[in-house]
Amino acid sequence: MAPMYSEQVLEHFRNPRNMGEIEDPDGVGDVGNPVCGDMMRITLKVDDKTETITDIKFKTFGCGAAIASSSVVTELVKGKTLTEALEVSNRTVVEQLGCLPPVKVHCSVLAEQGIAAAIKDYYEHHPDKQMPPQVEEKLRNLQDVDPHEMPS
Ligand code: FES
Repeated sequence: MAPMYSEQVLEHFRNPRNMGEIEDPDGVGDVGNPVCGDMMRITLKVDDKTETITDIKFKTFGCGAAIASSSVVTELVKGKTLTEALEVSNRTVVEQLGCLPPVKVHCSVLAEQGIAAAIKDYYEHHPDKQMPPQVEEKLRNLQDVDPHEMPS
């Protein structure tokens, strides 16, 4: 039988990057998937001047694909501005992982949601700053995604 997971998924699962929780974070994103019950917390440190993610950590209580997706997404957005980070989609995460089995694509959506939720939290704590409109839009769209109908 062909292996279910790509080498990249297994590698990130075995050696997750940026795992843990930042003390005194600037943004926290708590998301969960109601279908499988998996949960993810993203914590961010943000440079207020440049609105750049200077540090990021994740804590995921979930399947291997969710852990690998969290690990990859933290690598993808670290050093990016918040606006750039919002452009990272679950598809980018899946590409970086080589592939995910169709029933596991929703795990990568959790990672995209976690980043958006943490960015939203950052702006909610900085009312002097303008939240990019795509934050709410993204969270709304991702919420409507039926995990069982995700294309692979
Ligand atoms: S099975 Fe639900 S996040 Fe992976």
